Amino acid sequence: MLSLNTIATPNMKNTWNMKASIYGILTILLLWSPELGVSAARDTKQWRHHDGSRQLMAETFYPSYGESMPSSLQYRKTSTIFNVLNFGAKGDGISDDTKAFEAAWLAACKLEASTMIIPKGSVFLIKPISFSGPNCESNIVFQLDGKIIAPKASGNWESGLLQWVEFTKLNGITIRGSGVVDGQGSGWWTKSGTKPTAIRFYGSSDVTVTGITIQNSPQTHLKFDNCQSVQVSEITVSSPGDSPNTDGIHLQNSQDVAIHSSKLACGDDCVSIQTGCSAVKIQNVDCGPGHGISIGSLGKDNTKACVSNITVLDTKIHDAMTGVRIKTWQGGSGSVQGVTFSNIQVSQVKTPIVIDQYYCDGSKCKNDTSAVGISWISFENIRGTYTVNPVQFACSDSLPCTDITLDTIQLRPVQGSDHLGKPFCSNTYGELKTSTTPPIDCLVAKKRSTKQAQYGYDSCQN
Ligand SMILES: *[C@@H]1O[C@H](CO)[C@@H](O)[C@H](O)[C@H]1NC(C)=O
Ligand SMILES: *[C@@H]1O[C@H](CO)[C@@H](O)[C@H](O)[C@H]1NC(C)=O
Repeated sequence: MLSLNTIATPNMKNTWNMKASIYGILTILLLWSPELGVSAARDTKQWRHHDGSRQLMAETFYPSYGESMPSSLQYRKTSTIFNVLNFGAKGDGISDDTKAFEAAWLAACKLEASTMIIPKGSVFLIKPISFSGPNCESNIVFQLDGKIIAPKASGNWESGLLQWVEFTKLNGITIRGSGVVDGQGSGWWTKSGTKPTAIRFYGSSDVTVTGITIQNSPQTHLKFDNCQSVQVSEITVSSPGDSPNTDGIHLQNSQDVAIHSSKLACGDDCVSIQTGCSAVKIQNVDCGPGHGISIGSLGKDNTKACVSNITVLDTKIHDAMTGVRIKTWQGGSGSVQGVTFSNIQVSQVKTPIVIDQYYCDGSKCKNDTSAVGISWISFENIRGTYTVNPVQFACSDSLPCTDITLDTIQLRPVQGSDHLGKPFCSNTYGELKTSTTPPIDCLVAKKRSTKQAQYGYDSCQN
C-alpha cells in the first residue's frame, strides 16, 4: 500500500486523486489475489470490454500517472498480455479474424514490452494485415502458438499486394512460439504476376523471429527490408521444391543479421541476400530442397548494388539447384565484397559453388560493359556430392572476379551421374590454398587490375 502514497501527488485534483486511489487499491488487490481479480472483473463491464483480463485494466489505469508511476506498477505495465481470443477472434479457420488481430495489436502496441498472444489449438484466418509501428511502444512480443492461415488465392487479395503479414517501423519486435504461419500459396504458384510475401518486416530494428514454422507462401516466406539487428533462429520454412519463387528468407537493405539453427525447404533460394546488406551471418542452417544460399541477383536493370561482409558457415545444403552462389546481371554497378562460405556440406546439389556475372532469368539479356564487381570471396571446406558441375565461375569479360580463394574443396559426383561437367572458370582471379577434389586448374593468379579498383568495390564505399 506504500505505493499509493506516491501515486497521490499533491498537484492532482481531488477527484482524480480519489479515482486514482480506488483504482490503485483495486489493482493491487487484483494483482495480489487471483480469485478477487476474476470476480471484480466480472462485475466491471468496462474492464472486460477489451479482453476481460486483469491486465487490461492495468492499461486503462496506468497512463494517467505518467512519470510518477511507482516501480511496482511499472512491472505490471511491462507484462501486459493481449490474447486475440479476447478481442473477438474465433480461431475456427473459417471466420475472418483480421479485425480481432488488429484490435489486439492496437492495444498491445500502446504498452512497452507487451505480448500479443495467438493461442495454441486454434486456426485463425487473417486477410492481409499490417502491424504498423510508428506510434507503438518498443519490445512487443508476438507470441504465436496457434496457426494463422491466409485466404486462398481469390478475390480476397487485392491485386499487386506485396505481402500478407507486415510488421513495419517497430523498434524491438519479437515473433516467437511453436505456431504455424500458412500462406496457402498453392493457388498462386501456377499464376504469373506479383505474388505476396508471407511475412515482411520493414524499417524495423531489433527484430527477432524464433521457433515458428512458415509454410506454403505464395512467394517469399520471410522478408527483411530496411532492418537493423535481426535475429532469426530455430525456424522452419516449408514449401514444395517445385513451388516457384518461394524464397525462404529474403534480405534487402538490412545490416547486422544473424540467421541460425533453422531448417529451410522451399522452391527457390533458402536465403537470398540482396543489395544494401552487410554484416550478415548464417550458421547451422539446413537448406533443401531449394536453390541454395544466394547473394543476388544483383544489378538488374543497370542498378547499383552493394553487399559486404557476409558469412555462411556450418551449413548443410541438399537436393538443391545450387549450393552457395553469387549472381549478378550484366549492366549493373557496385560490388560484392568480403564473403566467406565455410564448412558447407552438400549432398545431391547440381552445382555446389557458383559465381555468375551473366545471370539472366530466361528472357533476352544483353551483354554490357559494366557489372557488379565481385572480390574477396572465400570458399573453405566445402564437401559432398554434386550432380552436374562442381564449380562454375562465369565472371565478366569487362570486370573480372578477383581475390577468389578456394580452400579444402572435396566434391564428388553422385554415383551414376553421367554428362558431368568439369570445374569452369572464366575471368576469375584468385588462389587455391590447398589441392582440391576434383582439381580446379582454371583460376588465374594475378593481381587486381586498377580498373577493378576503380569500378569495383570502391564505388560502394562512402
Ligand atoms: C562483419 O559482420 C560481423 C557480423 O556478422 C561483425 O561482427 C563484424 O564486425 C563485421 N566486420 C566488418 C569488417 O564489418
Ligand atoms: C555474353 O558474354 C558471355 C561471356 O563472354 C557469352 O558466353 C555469352 O554468349 C554472351 N551473351 C550474349 C547474349 O552475347
